[in-house]
Parts: sequence; C-alpha cells; structure tokens
Amino acid sequence: MSEGKLSTNHLLGIKYITTADIELIFDTAAKFKDVINRPIKKVPSLRDITIANLFFENSTRTKLSFELAEKRLSADVINFSSSGSSVKKGETLLDTVNNILSMKVDMVVMRHPAPGAHYFLSQHIDAQIVNAGDGTHEHPTQALLDAYSMKEKLGTLRGKKICIFGDILHSRVALSNIYCLKKMGAKIRVCGPPTLIPKHIGSLGVEVSYDVDDSLRWCDAANVLRIQLERQDIKYIPSLREYSMYYGINKQKLDNLDKQITILHPGPINRGIELSSDVADSEHSLILQQVENGVAVRMAVLFLLANLRGDRAA
Ligand code: NCD
Repeated sequence: MSEGKLSTNHLLGIKYITTADIELIFDTAAKFKDVINRPIKKVPSLRDITIANLFFENSTRTKLSFELAEKRLSADVINFSSSGSSVKKGETLLDTVNNILSMKVDMVVMRHPAPGAHYFLSQHIDAQIVNAGDGTHEHPTQALLDAYSMKEKLGTLRGKKICIFGDILHSRVALSNIYCLKKMGAKIRVCGPPTLIPKHIGSLGVEVSYDVDDSLRWCDAANVLRIQLERQDIKYIPSLREYSMYYGINKQKLDNLDKQITILHPGPINRGIELSSDVADSEHSLILQQVENGVAVRMAVLFLLANLRGDRAA
C-alpha cells in the first residue's frame, strides 16, 4: 500500500507526531476508504497481528470503529472492558495489561480515564500502543478523522478557519484537534462560556472567543463538542437550557450568516443542547462522514504502525 513510514512506534497523542505523519495517515486512509467501499471490504494486511482493545471508560463509536478497522485488516482481535473485570478487584493497570500481553498480543488500543496512562504503558511494555482517549487529555484518532473529513470537504486545511465550540475544558477531542489542525496549517478559534475554556489555552496559538455569532461568521467549519456532564464535579454553567440558548448551534443562528459553514460533531450528540437536530441532520453536517472516515483513518494508523514492526513478513 504505502511507501512512507511513521516517525513514531506508538500513537500516544497528536502532540508527538509530525505533519508528515499526518499526511501519510491521510494518504493511506484515502486508499483504505476505497477498500471499504468495495463489495469485498477486507484486506489481509494485518493477518499476522493480534490486537487487544482495552476500554477502561465508556465508548460506542470509537470501540466499534477500531474493531471494524482491525477486522477489515484481518487482524486477530480481543476485547476487554473494565466493567465486570478484575480491575474492580483492585488489579493495577500494568498487571492487567501484562496479563493480556502474555497471550502474545502485538498492539494495544486503549481508552483510559487517566491522562498519560498510554505514555506510562509505553515505557513498560513491548506492544505498540494506540490512544483511544486518555481522560480529558488527547483522542488522536478522533482528531485525525475530524481533520481528514474537513480536508475532504474544504479541499485543504491550510489557511482555513476552524472554530471548536463548547466544553473545551473537559474535552480530549479539543486538544487533539488543536494540535492536528495547527500542524496542518489551519487557523483555530475556540468558543464557549468562559468557565469551560482553559485559562491559558491561548498559549497553544488559538484565538479565544465567547461570542457564538461572531465565531460562526468567522469560521469555515465548526466542530461542535458535547457538554461533558460526567466530568463536571461542580456547576460550570447555570443550566443546560441557558447553555443551549447562548451557546447551542441551531438553524436560526446559521440562517443569520451570509455563507454556509460545515458542521462536525464527534458524537455522542446531546441533541437540542449543543446542536439542534435540524443542523445535525442537515446537508452541511459531516457527522456521518466522520464515522465512515473513522474506520478508514483507524485502518491507516494500525497498518502504518504494524509496518514498523521488525518481525513482520514482507
Ligand atoms: C468523544 C470522546 O469520547 O472523547 N467521543 C468519541 O470518541 N466519539 C467525545 C465525547 O464523548 O463527547
């Protein structure tokens, strides 16, 4: 398939990969997108690879998307989710993972509530690690599929204006999007209530705005994020009703613009809170394309990481 090589043996976060890595992932994903649209959607590329999907936090899309990507590449797949496991009996992360690895696993795809859990593991185990979300820190494959979908729609990311709306403070998608889109040359703004925007986020080279109408006028694409109520131990907003009035993106706000903007959302959507249904389901929404592209992008990541393994047959 692709000639290039990634600069890193793990995908721990977008912070640790290069622009050339992202371009290589996109080129490879485009080829896999063709594959998954053929009548026979499966290729033998990872036939000799065993992948463990370890989910210590809830997931629907990401888990299914990784599993499908792995199966489309003919990998052997085992799945683990922490609910109902020995984690509840007090086992450490390293013990859980080492036990799974003694079953001769080559790659670990993991979601974990602790920021940095993947980095920690990468220092202690031999398997290649893919971060499927670490707490509020990074979610690299989501950012790659978001950026891939925007590039597909807008033609290029260089110079494009992308605004990330909503709960920036608790979102790992926000941070990974910022790293990824900046590396691809986009201009980035974040917009939400002051309590949900980290104080020093400007140091990442993004604009900050609290004005939704102005931000909608400014941007070419809007990535709308979910209010992460499960991560909020104090009240950051007076009420969801007020949030939706001021910060929710709806048709009325978009109709006031003199242009069309592209709408993305990583899911799951709180319909009627951060995004109204008429916008989520409109022709300008990329939400379902994001899900389709997610499989191709994850196939590309797994394939390119597997290509770095010295023990692979040619
Ligand atoms: C995101 C996540 O889990 O970080 N969802 C996803 O991976 N599709 C965003 C979210 O939960 O809001």
